[in-house]
Amino acid sequence: MKIEGKEYRTIWFENNVVKIIDQTKLPHQFIIKDLKTVKDAINAIKTMEVRGAPLIGATAAYGLVLAIIENNDQSFLKKSSQDLINSRPTAINLKWAVDRMMKKLSRVNSDQIFTIALNEAKEICEEDIKFCENIGLNGLKIIEEIYNKKKDTVNVLTHCNAGWLATINWGTATSPIYHAHKKGIPVHVWVDETRPRNQGANLTSYELNEEEVPNTIIADNTGGILMQRGEVDMCIVGTDRTLSTGDVANKIGTYLKALAAKDNNVPFYVALPSSTIDWDIKDFKDIPIEERNSEELSHVEGLDENNDIKKILIYPKKSKSMNLAFDITPAKYVTGLITEKGICEASTDGLKKLFK
Ligand code: MRU
Repeated sequence: MKIEGKEYRTIWFENNVVKIIDQTKLPHQFIIKDLKTVKDAINAIKTMEVRGAPLIGATAAYGLVLAIIENNDQSFLKKSSQDLINSRPTAINLKWAVDRMMKKLSRVNSDQIFTIALNEAKEICEEDIKFCENIGLNGLKIIEEIYNKKKDTVNVLTHCNAGWLATINWGTATSPIYHAHKKGIPVHVWVDETRPRNQGANLTSYELNEEEVPNTIIADNTGGILMQRGEVDMCIVGTDRTLSTGDVANKIGTYLKALAAKDNNVPFYVALPSSTIDWDIKDFKDIPIEERNSEELSHVEGLDENNDIKKILIYPKKSKSMNLAFDITPAKYVTGLITEKGICEASTDGLKKLFK
């Protein structure tokens, strides 16, 4: 998708270096950063220079390529794969991508391993782009249906950033929106700010602006009254891990939006590639929920009067705070899952019909 009119992907490989867009600096600075070692990749995931379930999976895959360049040795590769998996706990795509790479790289000659690893990492990215595009085409049908009934702008509410910046291209939740916009269907997006890291305001609104999709940032608590007023036609969110039961882990606050949507008969869709499905865990209480540094709550970053990025404390110095990064939306609140293979009910039966 575009930034200042130029097409980008979120990650690519060039001259033995992995290139990323540093998302901690957006929207105020656009910086392309080099990852040269597997440690750089782990650090980029931990500090959220790259974030979003599919993108951290792709970064981990490229991280293994960097590990091979550094030290072409099986035990180093194994240790690196564990460190990558441990870099963030909730998004299953991370483990999925590392497992896929390691399976491909087991029993491979050391003189071939780099080429095979690089091809597989690239393949993971290409596949994600295709899947996200298909999610867009499938989700487009829902937006079209609403438009054909309403004959007026379709208002979509989204939470966090499940946009192209969270994937390689297109995004998951935003892909149907981009497809609708490209088709000339009038869409407007209510963008949840998404405290504490403001992925909605800093990333979703930014990328929608760059693609000229009308959008309005709202405080996280605003969605409820907008739904009561009939100003939300549908919600689409992404997910970091969806269980085979249809229960959905996503950015903290998603659950409350789903409750409000249910109370107001607003359809609540979750968009995901199959790499985000956890086929093993059956009870959502077993999903590891990341708890991040409470400084993400107590401090905010923004531009000062000299256009420099500044971090300031906004809480009382003595106050404690707690920063859970994800919550679970039980399947009963999810209208449907929009996947690369089609739209299904958020249930074991629904998923089984699409993914044999
Ligand atoms: O903590 P983040 O910014 O990595 O969280 C991202 C989300 O919760 C996204 O909604 C999710 O990964 C889906 S991305 C297509």
